[in-house]
Amino acid sequence: MNKNPMENEEYRPKVVDLFCGAGGLSTGFRMAGFDVLLGIDNIPIFCETFEKNDHQAICGDIRTISVEQIKQAIDNKKIEVVVGGPPCQGFSMAGRRNTKDPRNSLFMEFVRIVAGLKPKFFVMENVPGILTMKTEKGELVKDIIFNVYKMIGYNVEVKKLNAADYGVPQKRKRVVFIGTNTKKSITFPEPTHSQKDNSNQKKWVPVSSVIKSKDKVESNFFHTPKMIEGFVRRKKINEQKGKGFGAQYLKMDEPSYTISARYWKDGSDALVKYSENEIRMLTPEEAAAIQTFPSDYKFAGSKRDIYTQIGNAVPCLLGKAVAEEIKKSLLK
Ligand SMILES: C[S@@+](CC[C@H](N)C(=O)[O-])C[C@H]1O[C@@H](n2cnc3c(N)ncnc32)[C@H](O)[C@@H]1O
Repeated sequence: MNKNPMENEEYRPKVVDLFCGAGGLSTGFRMAGFDVLLGIDNIPIFCETFEKNDHQAICGDIRTISVEQIKQAIDNKKIEVVVGGPPCQGFSMAGRRNTKDPRNSLFMEFVRIVAGLKPKFFVMENVPGILTMKTEKGELVKDIIFNVYKMIGYNVEVKKLNAADYGVPQKRKRVVFIGTNTKKSITFPEPTHSQKDNSNQKKWVPVSSVIKSKDKVESNFFHTPKMIEGFVRRKKINEQKGKGFGAQYLKMDEPSYTISARYWKDGSDALVKYSENEIRMLTPEEAAAIQTFPSDYKFAGSKRDIYTQIGNAVPCLLGKAVAEEIKKSLLK
């Protein structure tokens, strides 16, 4: 193999995905030409999905998995990038001394593994709320994250990205921390799409691009008149209270609303409405397409498990856009 990656067309940097879930983020990295050697998650069904799509997974609580175990699983290969999204509720884990302090959370497991594997880059994704979240003592969690990484030799930058700006038919905002222990630059992907037509960017991809026609959808995805009544009633109550929440009906010429891990309950995050009494949930295939999973992606588990994995995922095309930036930096 050529030593200079720039002269090597086959350069495929290696990735480990912590908290991998179904593998949305990993799929994005694969699309950008990375080799995902391993994922770790503690839910067996999620690991099964990860493995079904030709990735290797260790299924277990990350707090019990040593760096040695990870190195063994990947045959001691050098990892260039560690990626993952530690769950944010990890910031208030029970059973620890100061339960609201991120230093006692799953985030620290991510840090432990980065410190052990010493990748050139890491990508840590999370919900936008993390930028303003404070500890009980009033410290910004974001500042703690920067300081903890600094202590293990990583320079970090953070940015909020909207998946719709990268060709995903969904408005979904995620915060991405990128860190490096090299002198290489940290850059975030420039939007390729935008809400309005302009000369540099394409228009946001509308959700209609992935919605099946009415006659192709099984009747069990359509809500009963009683359910529909419930949506209408709750929406009215919420509106009276000045809350914007309640059932959301997709606007076909715009990207979808965010699909959450709770989508399986009644689909009220994003419903397809043909008329006042013809309202349905998205099928799992449509939800997966909204998250830009490839059409042949295989999911394990029940319908509920599948919606949960899809709702948890980083949209693959957002992952790909971030991965391409990292690859550019690695090649410099
Ligand atoms: C937001 S999801 C990750 C989604 C994934 N990045 C994707 O793009 O598909 C967070 C994942 O963390 C996993 N998780 C939570 N606590 C964990 C723990 N203690 N050890 C390992 N995995 C854990 C959950 O099962 C869940 O799949």
